[in-house]
Amino acid sequence: MKIWLDSADPAEIKKAVEAGLCDGVTTNPSLIAKAGGDNATIIPKIVEVCDAPVLAETLSIDADGIVSEGKELAKISSNVVVKIPMAWDSLIAVKRLSQEGIPTAVTLIFNATQALLAARSGATYIAPFVGRREDISEEGAQAIAEMVDVYQLHGLPTELIVASIRGPLQVKQAALAGAHGVTVPFGVLKQMAEHPLTAAGIAKFLADAGKG
Ligand code: G3P
Repeated sequence: MKIWLDSADPAEIKKAVEAGLCDGVTTNPSLIAKAGGDNATIIPKIVEVCDAPVLAETLSIDADGIVSEGKELAKISSNVVVKIPMAWDSLIAVKRLSQEGIPTAVTLIFNATQALLAARSGATYIAPFVGRREDISEEGAQAIAEMVDVYQLHGLPTELIVASIRGPLQVKQAALAGAHGVTVPFGVLKQMAEHPLTAAGIAKFLADAGKG
């Protein structure tokens, strides 16, 4: 399963790249704003530290606007993927951009029917949000499993990158469901590496060796 980083912070991204744990980067307007800029200023900084796919999100609502914005984003770097929130006009834009060879990711997906339409319109990736489903007491893992099943049953080539990850358990559930990848905040990535018994074991080994 691919590990993507859900971040617009080049310093965090560089750390994930160093660990071999950055198969791609997902940004969104909130993460870009948190990084103190916009796509035009932040995405170039990200592609400097990451040569894997970088998802940059459009803000336009109409198909023509999305296509126009997406083409500008694609000019930033060859590894930029145009990220578009799920909507009818977005599907029209995905179809048009994919016909021009521009990779796309449909985001803010919450069920298997949205996932099916995005794949059939030609999306390269989809980003189904598991955390925001569970935030409102809706099942997250089951929804992801259904999307994976639909894609596998019908041989759909779109890659499913599970997003809106709140903690390591959701990463495990995505992996068990057979998702192509997850996109993880840097803090969750660090959490995944840690366990109290590991820390205790290291401390004991160092103490026994007279190093602690
Ligand atoms: O970046 C897309 C997605 O991962 C956002 O997650 O935490 O804002 O629900 P979150």
